[in-house]
Amino acid sequence: MSSHRPIVKAVVPVAGLGTRFLPATKATPKEMLPVVDKPAIQYVVEEAQAAGIVDLLFVTGRNKDALENHFDHSPNLERTLMDKGAIAMHDELMRIVELAHIHYVRQGNPLGLGHAVSLAKEHVGDSPFVVMLGDDLIDAKTPVLPAMLNAYEKHGGSILCLMEVPASEIHLYGCAQVEATDDPDIVRVTGLIEKPLEGEAPSNLAVIGRYLLQPEIFAVLADQEPGRGGEIQLTDAVAQLASAPDVAGGVHAVIFRGRRYDTGDKLSYLKSVFQIALDRDDVGPDLRAWMIEYLASDS
Ligand code: G1P
Repeated sequence: MSSHRPIVKAVVPVAGLGTRFLPATKATPKEMLPVVDKPAIQYVVEEAQAAGIVDLLFVTGRNKDALENHFDHSPNLERTLMDKGAIAMHDELMRIVELAHIHYVRQGNPLGLGHAVSLAKEHVGDSPFVVMLGDDLIDAKTPVLPAMLNAYEKHGGSILCLMEVPASEIHLYGCAQVEATDDPDIVRVTGLIEKPLEGEAPSNLAVIGRYLLQPEIFAVLADQEPGRGGEIQLTDAVAQLASAPDVAGGVHAVIFRGRRYDTGDKLSYLKSVFQIALDRDDVGPDLRAWMIEYLASDS
């Protein structure tokens, strides 16, 4: 039996406007953009389910109804598919509805990621929980939540997911200052800085959008002053947990070496579509053959 409280809930902030993807995201939430044939957000929900986490709280905003509809029953469509004998697709739609218990809370004002997470206080209560950012797509072939849950079993406290990025890109992320542990894949986090300016980054280890947090984060967030971009930053609140290890067990991080895409970035989004499609048995072989031919041609 584990001595730590189990993780059963995840908070998924999805209130962002998706301005980097306009005009595609004018009337469609960015989380609904398809990666092959599934909306990006479905990968996140499937990732949680695969790690045994099926109680999800979506922190949504205006114009996000499509997300609720995607994970809910659509009686007319289900009936039509049955009438047509499209049983496999019908069953797939039922599977999506049953993936998780999804709850919703609205973030009325876009005050930042820290503010979005603070809205989960009532739902989460006094237990540790996971935060999964909708823009970060972790390839199911290289999952990271199991490693984070293992790190939590070993070290307790809060656990981040860090990834090495080129020095030229660290200003796009939260950046961690770390100390080694006896495990090459786990570090102790001693400091964090959100989107460091040039010369400010303590490392090239970027915070990726998967967090395992202790409920003490809510008290920190309640007093958190606006940080980078005038927003209430989750990174700043986690930095406080890291600097006071006696309060909530400190902060460790898993070094992630798998495949991760930022589906809010055009190039990274395109890579996710191609890489995930190439891995699939149905479209992968033909796509690969076409790509080789296309790239070798003059067009
Ligand atoms: C957020 C966090 C940042 C983190 C990033 C990961 O930034 O504030 O610390 O590195 O997600 O995707 P955003 O990309 O929302 O600006």
